[in-house]
Amino acid sequence: MRKLILFLFLIPFINCKKAPVIPTGEIAEKAMVVSAREEASKIGVEIMQKGGNAFDAMVATEMALAVAFPFAGNLGGGGFIVYRKADGAIGGLDYREKAPLSAHRDMYLDSLGEVIPNMSTVGATAIGVPGTVAGIIEVHKKHGSLTLEEILQPVIDLANKGVIVTEKQAKRIESYKERFIEVNGDSTKFAQGFQPGDTIKYPELAKTLTKIMNEGRDGFYKGETAQKLASFIQEKGGFITEEDLEKYKAKWREPVTFTYKDLKIISMSPPSSGGVTMNQMFKMMESHDIGQYDHNSAEAIQLFTEAARRAYADRNYFLGDPDFTDIPLDELLNQSYLEERFSDFSFDKATSSDSVSNGNVEIVESTETTHYSIVDSKGNAVSATTTLNGGYGSKLYSEELGIFLNNEMDDFSAKAGVPNMFGLIGAEANSIEPEKRMLSSMTPTIVEKDGSLYMVVGTPGGSTIINFVAQTILNVHEFDLSMQDAVNAPRFHHQWLPDIIMFETVGFSDELKTTLKQKGYNIFEGPARIGGKVDAIKVLPDGRLEGGADKRGDDKAVGY
Ligand code: DON
Repeated sequence: MRKLILFLFLIPFINCKKAPVIPTGEIAEKAMVVSAREEASKIGVEIMQKGGNAFDAMVATEMALAVAFPFAGNLGGGGFIVYRKADGAIGGLDYREKAPLSAHRDMYLDSLGEVIPNMSTVGATAIGVPGTVAGIIEVHKKHGSLTLEEILQPVIDLANKGVIVTEKQAKRIESYKERFIEVNGDSTKFAQGFQPGDTIKYPELAKTLTKIMNEGRDGFYKGETAQKLASFIQEKGGFITEEDLEKYKAKWREPVTFTYKDLKIISMSPPSSGGVTMNQMFKMMESHDIGQYDHNSAEAIQLFTEAARRAYADRNYFLGDPDFTDIPLDELLNQSYLEERFSDFSFDKATSSDSVSNGNVEIVESTETTHYSIVDSKGNAVSATTTLNGGYGSKLYSEELGIFLNNEMDDFSAKAGVPNMFGLIGAEANSIEPEKRMLSSMTPTIVEKDGSLYMVVGTPGGSTIINFVAQTILNVHEFDLSMQDAVNAPRFHHQWLPDIIMFETVGFSDELKTTLKQKGYNIFEGPARIGGKVDAIKVLPDGRLEGGADKRGDDKAVGY
């Protein structure tokens, strides 16, 4: 009898067992690449099909994006990877740009100490020493298995054959046309005007890539290419010298790792702010069990926003290049510190950002970066985010080398308290110094569950990146969405200052916004140009891979 009573008591719980999540994205049996363009994903996959590992595929995909997605894919920018090998070994590579040797703290200020408009964002003065080529060569040297010829020849072939312009790409090129002409003159390649369906060939870029294929790092940072690049930038008024190029080195760094419930999250460490900020946010949210609330409900949004508000405030004050700045990481990630910092959270009322710290900034402007995720047939995983910063970076294009150059110097804090183009306010920790790396929000991330590979995830989106990576992980793990649905789901953003929540245009009701306003939240009412483009992979319980390719762009999961 007692057994029967116990059984009846358990019935509701048995019925409540979660239904299995049905995958809705591209499925692959063995290996997959998800990136901003099908051409790049395909090249990465082909490298793995001919015996290359995830690192070989990274080198190919990164370079193929410079051809197929020059909006953000690059040789003239920088980025970060986080990897997890099949045996569980993890690591991170920092190939972030550096300030040139001639840089100094007040280089973007006029004689009155005011920030000179556009100097850190448009044209040659905005360029940091590019890191991408050093990054791929370092990845290849340490973890590659194929030769550089085997990896780069298909990319060179793509550059020579050309890439078909998509509708989205044609629109983007058109919208930047005036800026291209302003910076490069009206004969520049990208001012010609391209229609969807046109093919753009990149013979100059093919030559630059061939030099790298033949000479490795020196094919870019020394000799003819370096000479051409430095003199081109200087002719246009910029600061990069041959010495800057020669001295540039990518740097291996230990990723930030932390647990969240039964997950282990592995993400990029400073000079990326992604890992530290996400670590703080997840730890602040953990005990509140966000999964008990509905997905994108007022309660879930409140919890997330309040964690983001506090973590972004710390980000902006404490984080910078660890080679130049002492970052109190142990304190920032200490459980008691985070509990104390979140102790005034209440579902009744929004915390004001002024009470967390103070300042006044403008609205976030969304520009471009690109993320790709790779898993190979052995289970090695690479999560990589790379950028020119703004869309087409500084807009300065070297016709001779076939590359755009970054405007990453804007990610430094040009003047304490003055927002950069993402509305982020910097502090002393992120001030400009020669050879220093500017603070980044790029958050390439890998998630383990029960000790095994579970997810590879990342996105572009400037200051929104950290929130969007965190929301994607929560969408899968707390709200039981498939990988593709987690990527599709509408996203929101709060970055401490300005003290507003920005919602993607579709997917959040007026009723929800009214509820939040009544609790004291400021809602951005304009057209929020946010969204990110999350490209992710989830390992399904049966070992197959589900891709989440962001349909906000031309992004594509390819696998086999
Ligand atoms: O490193 C950073 O945080 C920025 N330079 C990233 C720029 C970016 O994501 C633009 N993309 N939408």
